[in-house]
Amino acid sequence: MSEFPTTRNRRLRRTAALRRLVAETRLHPASFVLPLFVVSGRGVTNPISSMPGHSQLSVDELIPVVKEAASAGAGGVILFGIPASKDETGSGAWDPAGPVPTAIRAIKDQVEDITVWADVCLCEYTSHGHCGVLDGETVDNDKTLPLLAQAALAYADSGADVIAPSDMMDGRVAAIRSALDSGGHHELAQCSYSAKYASAYYGPFREAAESAPTFGDRRTHQMDPPNVREALVEVTLDLAEGADMVMVKPAGPYLDVISAVRARTNVPVAAYQVSGEFSMVEAAAQNGWIDGELVMLESLTSIARAGASITLTYFATRAARALSAF
Ligand code: PBG
Ligand code: ZN
Repeated sequence: MSEFPTTRNRRLRRTAALRRLVAETRLHPASFVLPLFVVSGRGVTNPISSMPGHSQLSVDELIPVVKEAASAGAGGVILFGIPASKDETGSGAWDPAGPVPTAIRAIKDQVEDITVWADVCLCEYTSHGHCGVLDGETVDNDKTLPLLAQAALAYADSGADVIAPSDMMDGRVAAIRSALDSGGHHELAQCSYSAKYASAYYGPFREAAESAPTFGDRRTHQMDPPNVREALVEVTLDLAEGADMVMVKPAGPYLDVISAVRARTNVPVAAYQVSGEFSMVEAAAQNGWIDGELVMLESLTSIARAGASITLTYFATRAARALSAF
């Protein structure tokens, strides 16, 4: 390569059309998945104060939001349920009449051409807010597995397209795979939250999903933020257990993890731009401190550039619309 003045890198940055031409990363609406919070009842829209523009929605209110996402070209929605009542084992998670199974059936019935993901975890459904059943003060891994499998099967039976376990119990991908297979769902894909960190960025989500633990935290099962090689161990095991896709979460603060996972696997890599990442952009934008629209697109571009093929993001519909405006 020759040097300045023969080489001038500014030549390819001269106009917007040239910059678009040589862009190495392109965002596409089809890669965005919108997280949604489903409650029981009718006509319910409870705004989530820490997540402007997002609300807990009953199924009838959810449908237009899913239709909007689909018509903007978003690739999917991922559902989180808030049950009417909670108990020690989180039995609401596998209630076929619960908010998530009801929402999946309604979406499949009324909205075309968008994938429906079901998050699988017990923390929204347990009275103590932990992701599994307790033995004293610790989450009992092996006793939790059949319960997660039962929940996954309920979502599968309702017509979900992707099952996404987020609990971080060891062995859950295999437990869910075998329950799905015995239930006749051989062709139903799992996207495992393989590298899910014990992150303080989940704060707003716990308001949205009413899933904060009543004591302690999730550090004994979610990953420790300093570790990246361990993420590869998680990914390798989940793929061996039958995961079809893997996820890194959070996304923006963990771009190195996305990149490492991308380099080591050939399955689709999803990244979850979590509630705290969204809320920080929104809060700064509302204060006039940053341009929210530009930071939204830049943050999503960075996640894609790091190697994510799918991004779960609260910006999904907005970003999809912004992209079609180009
Ligand atoms: C439940 C779950 C969480 C998120 C997705 N699934 C929260 C947690 O682990 O406490 C976080 C998503 C977000 O912050 O947007 N296990
Ligand atoms: Zn959980």
